Amino acid sequence: MEVIKTDVAIVGAGGAGLRAAIAVAEADPSIEIALISKVYPMRSHTCAAEGGAAGVIESDDSLEYHFNDTVQGGDWLTDQDAVELFVNTIPKELTQMEHWGCPWSRKENGDVAVRPFGGMKIMRTWFAADKTGFHMLHTLFQTSLQFPSIKRYDEFFSTDLMVDNGRCTGVTAIEMRSGQMRLFQAKAVILCTGGAGRIYPFTTNGAIKTGDGWGMAYRAGVPLKDMEFVQYHPTGLPGSGILLTEGCRGEGGILVNKDGYRYLQDYGMGPPDPWPRLKAMELGPRDRLSQAFWHEQKKGNTIPTQWGDVVHLDMRHLGEAKIDERLPLVRDLASSYVGTDPVTSLVPVRPVVHYMMGGIHTDIDAATPLPGLYAAGECACVSINGANRLGSNSLGELLVFGARAGRHAVEYVRSAPEPNAAALEKQGAEAQKRITDLFTRTDGTERVAVLRREMNDAMEEGCGIYRDANTTKMSCDKTTELRQRFKRINLEDKSNVYNTDLFQCLELGNMLDCAETIAQSAFQRQESRGSHQRLDFEARDDSKYLKHSMAAYNGDDPPKIDYLDVVITKSQPAERVYGGEQK
Ligand code: FUM
Repeated sequence: MEVIKTDVAIVGAGGAGLRAAIAVAEADPSIEIALISKVYPMRSHTCAAEGGAAGVIESDDSLEYHFNDTVQGGDWLTDQDAVELFVNTIPKELTQMEHWGCPWSRKENGDVAVRPFGGMKIMRTWFAADKTGFHMLHTLFQTSLQFPSIKRYDEFFSTDLMVDNGRCTGVTAIEMRSGQMRLFQAKAVILCTGGAGRIYPFTTNGAIKTGDGWGMAYRAGVPLKDMEFVQYHPTGLPGSGILLTEGCRGEGGILVNKDGYRYLQDYGMGPPDPWPRLKAMELGPRDRLSQAFWHEQKKGNTIPTQWGDVVHLDMRHLGEAKIDERLPLVRDLASSYVGTDPVTSLVPVRPVVHYMMGGIHTDIDAATPLPGLYAAGECACVSINGANRLGSNSLGELLVFGARAGRHAVEYVRSAPEPNAAALEKQGAEAQKRITDLFTRTDGTERVAVLRREMNDAMEEGCGIYRDANTTKMSCDKTTELRQRFKRINLEDKSNVYNTDLFQCLELGNMLDCAETIAQSAFQRQESRGSHQRLDFEARDDSKYLKHSMAAYNGDDPPKIDYLDVVITKSQPAERVYGGEQK
């Protein structure tokens, strides 16, 4: 197997991966970087982010307000040292993006504009119309091109982390166009592989978001933290699941049920104040809005469609000029995918899986417990999101912690010993054998598409917006069964060139491992907090569960779930209040 020697291998070239690569290159141009991605960088899912990135800039705002909103939004499961660092750093990162050329939308006077966003009680979300992720990704990508030390490996599918003597020493990846495996020997590896919305059947996430980094880290012995917290975004387009940004509501759009009634006023989201409704209603946090939809559906107040029940997003009062200036993509998406023009018509929307609060356990330096391994972006759980992320905190997170991962990896690399070549070769051969076995086996009976569908259904049914002991147990049993059946998977395409059957099979293996951690963590958390709502344990229970769940790999058996204390520095757990009573 060809060995590619580098200093830092970064897996994933979306926002976090690119930001990490730039940070390494800026810190020390002599350090070699291999930037490995299963897609061309501009096809990474950061591209699909629409609404914006939160950071304090207005004079009536403060770092303390951003901190409070984030901690309360996360239902006090956030680590407050991480949140403080995050809110302090993000304005600098967003300004840095400006200097690199990010075309932030502007006010009349030329200042950077901000818009309201869910759960943020002050306007602080920077945006570039409704294509913020696209512009940020483009800015990072073009900036990365100026650093000769960043060597890209586009369309390389990473399979296994190399671990020797208690350290991470590299990663194996298949060159997709030839089918050949390469071994990247590295002193440090940074995982920036995004989330895993594709574990669920209805998601805003692109097909590439399959938890590949989660799977690799987990099998290498790194715990997955807070996996039970799965975010449903309240406004996805029925059928496709494509996101209609919270910016629609930030700009003044409202949600109505089948009777044209603004139902959120019945769910503790406050009175229907005039725009800007910083005191909630449609700008309440995502968990609460998605839960409200579930109740409206139970009451028979939603509208049935061929793609499931919906409510309506009404933006008609915003007018064509504002929609075209602030929400041009939304207009295009609604017109193209559900045939309704928001300028003149109500748009059908429903909750859709959007983001994973949990992920690879890291500290505030983006370091995992495995020396030499770092993680940043959605694949990581540094714990700024707790039990429910606020919209527009994730684009900031990938900048702040992508950069920190890069800088801390540089420090580590400076004193890390050279990886042991013989140990690497042995592990590389094992990784290769796992792939070769898929090609040579003759007893395969299971199909990728069948197992994936069964996993999707079991997760939506068992670990959806509301869960209980029975439903989560069903998801646990099903994912354990599917992991066993996965051992008998049949690879139908045995060719080498862009073998999508192989890559979907590897993605499924990653998703199944991770789905089981979601189900087990959800089953074992006997309380309701943020996005984890148990019908059989309706209250938050700080005495038992003011703790992160930690899922540890246990071979063929389900993960072992442990708990870790939450870091509380200055905000004691309290009731989450939205709707005008609290600033
Ligand atoms: O609604 C949105 O634009 C999504 C933003 C986010 O998830 O941060």
